[in-house]
Amino acid sequence: MPGRVLSVASEYVPLVKTGGLADVAGALPGALAGQGWDMRTLLPAYPGLIDKAHATEEVWSHLDLFGGPGRVLMGQVGGNAVLLLDAPHLYDRAGGPYGNPKDYPDNAQRFAALSWVGARIAIDGLSDGWVPDVLHCHDWQSGFAPAYLRFSGDKRVKSVMTIHNIAFQGNASAALLGELRLPFEAFNSDALEYWGHLSSLKAGLATADVITTVSPTYAAELMRGDFGMGMQGLLAYRAADLTGILNGIDEDVWNPETDTEIAHRYSKTSLAKKAPNRAALTAEFGLTGIDGPLAIVVSRLTDQKGIDLIVECATDFVAMGGGLAILGSGEAHLEQALKDLVKAHPGKIGLRIGYDEALAHRMFAGGDAVLVPSRFEPCGLTQLYGLRYGCVPVVALTGGLADTVIDANPMAQQAKVATGVQFHPVDALAFGQALRRLVDLHENSKNWSAMQKRGMSQALGWDTSAATYAQLYESLTA
Ligand code: ADP
Ligand code: GLC
Repeated sequence: MPGRVLSVASEYVPLVKTGGLADVAGALPGALAGQGWDMRTLLPAYPGLIDKAHATEEVWSHLDLFGGPGRVLMGQVGGNAVLLLDAPHLYDRAGGPYGNPKDYPDNAQRFAALSWVGARIAIDGLSDGWVPDVLHCHDWQSGFAPAYLRFSGDKRVKSVMTIHNIAFQGNASAALLGELRLPFEAFNSDALEYWGHLSSLKAGLATADVITTVSPTYAAELMRGDFGMGMQGLLAYRAADLTGILNGIDEDVWNPETDTEIAHRYSKTSLAKKAPNRAALTAEFGLTGIDGPLAIVVSRLTDQKGIDLIVECATDFVAMGGGLAILGSGEAHLEQALKDLVKAHPGKIGLRIGYDEALAHRMFAGGDAVLVPSRFEPCGLTQLYGLRYGCVPVVALTGGLADTVIDANPMAQQAKVATGVQFHPVDALAFGQALRRLVDLHENSKNWSAMQKRGMSQALGWDTSAATYAQLYESLTA
């Protein structure tokens, strides 16, 4: 029987976003509603959010929330209830959700408070009578919530911990144990302790009833030393409780047939209309005479995303006739390396440093291919947007990239199932060869458009995964 879920997250589309976590947290309530589950999402009331969500109804309050008062105001976004934790001493800051550019020094307290409130609501419910059956936590920011729930002794509410990215572990000084209202006896390697520190992610992984991550391949990778980032032993121990459920995309937002951000809408039966979008994109990035594939990159500029490999392989790609349009922001040395690349290849490589949602839409509509050479990728969303927009993905064979793209190897081409290009290992040699294959595939226009159409026909929405989450919740609450 469907029930109620309290989802706890630090980002939520369309309220606040730094990456894919926001897309997923924002899409889950609608997707689960389709399965009969009533999900409300608790997130910090960062500046401006209370107005954006029209959150006026106070449904919870507490006088002493880690150094000041806190209350929860309920609002609606896209028909789904959001619960904004209004605690100005923690969240009324001018920078991003985690700091700007450096992390806030009290992030441990800020997100322990979010987690503590999540656990309290799970146990006591809200003043309007709403009481959840399941507490669903996302990443380190809500990792302490299953721990608070477990230590409270409550057995009624079941908890789910979802790993979106194990690289972020919420490590904090063990000296904060008391301040964060965590029991001293739980500071051991089976629960809160992680190499002498506290880790909120580990706390969640050790105490939640079940663990999920965002693709089956990443679930398997996480138990290995080269991907588990120190948590592999715990995850291998909890293997029976760990499942990988692929992310979907919000097909109302990411759909070239209805996308209001793009000048020329198209579908797989009117692919020719991609051409004016491509022309507009090359003009916008100041590119000319790109005879080969126009590749795009929409990404955080970090080591995870393999941006250095793009820098290394770009010159050869341009020499083969390719063009590059890059949108992203992140580590200073990668931003600089990309700026140098643009200088070396004027008219062939274009760059926008920054975060621009509307431009991202124009890029998927205008691009021939999207490059995702990630060293690890729990799920990845941009390859999915690429598939949806006929912008063929070139991806590393890892995590969700391995699970969502079908490589154009000879057998896959013969069977007419290929949707993109995959490479392994994640190094410049293999990526360079993948780009060479991309250029060759692009030359055969009949096969190329068949591959685009196959990608555009894939089921990429939330239906299947929402049903899997619903089954998981039901198995916990039966
Ligand atoms: P991650 O969450 O690791 O950054 P994902 O692929 O899951 O990777 O999600 C990234 C999300 O952020 C996608 O929705 C992508 O379009 C978006 N994105 C990343 N960088 C930018 C940017 N500079 N401008 C606009 N959107 C961006
Ligand atoms: C993380 C991962 C990304 C995933 C996203 C949403 O940010 O890096 O691969 O798609 O979370 O689950």
